[in-house]
Amino acid sequence: MSSDSANAQPAPGGFLGWLDKRFPVIDTWNEHLAQYYAPKNMGFWAFFGSLALVVLVLQIVTGLFLAMSYKPSATEAFASVEYIMRDVDWGWLIRYMHSTGASFFFILVYLHMFRGLMWGSYKKPRELLWMIGVVIYLAMMATAFFGYLLPWGQMSYWGAQVIVNLFSAVPGIGESLSTWVRGDYVISDATLNRFYAFHFLLPFILVGLVFVHIVALHRVGSTNPDGIEIKKGPKGNKWSDTAPADGIPFHPYYTVKDIMGLVAFAAIFSAVVFFTPDFHHLFLEAPNFQPADPLKTPPHIAPVWYFTPYYAMLRAVPPIAASQFPGVVVMFAAILILFFLPWLDRSPVRSMRYKGILSKIFLAAFAVSFVVLAYLGLQPASELHTLLSQIFTVVYFSFFLLMPIYTKLEKTKPVPERVTT
Ligand code: HEM
Repeated sequence: MSSDSANAQPAPGGFLGWLDKRFPVIDTWNEHLAQYYAPKNMGFWAFFGSLALVVLVLQIVTGLFLAMSYKPSATEAFASVEYIMRDVDWGWLIRYMHSTGASFFFILVYLHMFRGLMWGSYKKPRELLWMIGVVIYLAMMATAFFGYLLPWGQMSYWGAQVIVNLFSAVPGIGESLSTWVRGDYVISDATLNRFYAFHFLLPFILVGLVFVHIVALHRVGSTNPDGIEIKKGPKGNKWSDTAPADGIPFHPYYTVKDIMGLVAFAAIFSAVVFFTPDFHHLFLEAPNFQPADPLKTPPHIAPVWYFTPYYAMLRAVPPIAASQFPGVVVMFAAILILFFLPWLDRSPVRSMRYKGILSKIFLAAFAVSFVVLAYLGLQPASELHTLLSQIFTVVYFSFFLLMPIYTKLEKTKPVPERVTT
C-alpha cells in the first residue's frame, strides 16, 4: 500500500514525538492501521481472527493468575484447583474464564479456518499465511492437551494416559517414546510437571506465531467474500489517490467494527462463565471433578470436544495386529493435510461464491462430517458409532483428496471486477 497524507497520523510533538524519533511508532501505526487498506466488504466472518487474538491474551492473563496459586504436583494439584475455586479471591472467576476461554478459543479458530475455506484464503499468494495458521492450530492443540492434565481430575489423568499411550503404537520406538513423553512408565508427578512447563511456555510461542501471522497477512493483504485481489483493482478512494478503490483504512473502520464484535462476544462469553461454565459438561467434564485415581478407570474416556473429531477418526480405524498405529496415522493426517490445501485446490477462482456446485457440496459435507465426528468422539464406543465414524472419516478426507478433481472439473461463475457489498 503506498502511503499518502489522507488519514495518516501527523508527526506528533511532546513525548510521542520524542519516542517516534527513536522508534517507528507513527510509521508503524500508519502502515499497519491508518493507511492499511482492507477490503470494504469483509463482513461477519472477519470478526474471528481479532476475537481469537483477544482470547489468546485473556488465556495468558488468567493463566498467569492461576499459576500464582496452582501447585503442579500429583499430590497437591487437584486440591490447589479446589483452593483456587473456593478460597482465592475471585479464583472461581479466573478459573472459569480460563476453562471457558479454552473452548471459545477453539470455537473462534474453527470459524476463522472455515472462513478461510469459504473465501479461498489459502490460495496464492496466501499459502504461507495459511500454513502459519495451521502451525498456530497445532500449537493451540498442544497447549490445550498439556493444560488438560493440570487439574489432575479423573478425565485429565485418563485422557492423558490414552493419548500418550498412542505414542507407544509407533513401530520400533513406541515404548521408549511414550516413556520419554511421560517421564515415567505411567502418567505421574513427572508428567504433570513437564506438562505444566509446556503449558506455560506454549502460549508465548503462540503470541510469536500470531505476530508472524499478522505480518504475513499485511504483506499480502486480506481477501474478502468475493475472493478479489483489491490491490490488483482500480486505484483511488476518498482517502487516497493511490490506495485500492475497494479498500478502506483498517483504522478507524475495522477497529471500531472489531470493538463492536468484541462487545457482542463479551456478552456471550460472560453468559457462559457466570451461568453455565461447564456448558453441559462439554467445557468441564463431570468426571474431572473427582481427583485422579490411577486404580479406577472411568467407564468412558473422551478428550474435550475440540479434539473429539480426531479421536473419533482414531477409533474408526481398526487396529492391525493389535497396533493402533494406523489410527494414529489417520488422526494426524487429518490435521497435516491442511498444509497441502493451497495445492489441492485447482479452481481458477478463490471464493465459494463463484465456485461450482461440487465445491459447495463437498464443503458442506466436510463441515457436517467434522461436527458429526465431534459428536461421535464424545460418545462411548459402539458398533454403530464406529461405523458412522468410518463413514464420516471418509467424507472428511474426500473433501481434500478429491479436491484436485472436482475443482478442476466443475464450471465456475465469472468473478466481478469489483468487490460486492
Ligand atoms: C490464535 C489463533 C489465530 C489468531 C489470533 C489469528 C488472527 C488473525 C487475524 C487478526 C486475521 C485478520 C482478520 C481476519 O481476517 O480474520 C487473520 C487472517 C487470517 N488467518 Fe488467522 N489467526 C489465528 C489462527 C489461524 C488459523 C488456525 C488459520 C488457518 C489454519 C488462520 C488463517 C488465516 C488466514 C488464511 C487469514 C487471511 C484471511 C483473509 O484475508 O482471507 N488463522 N488471522
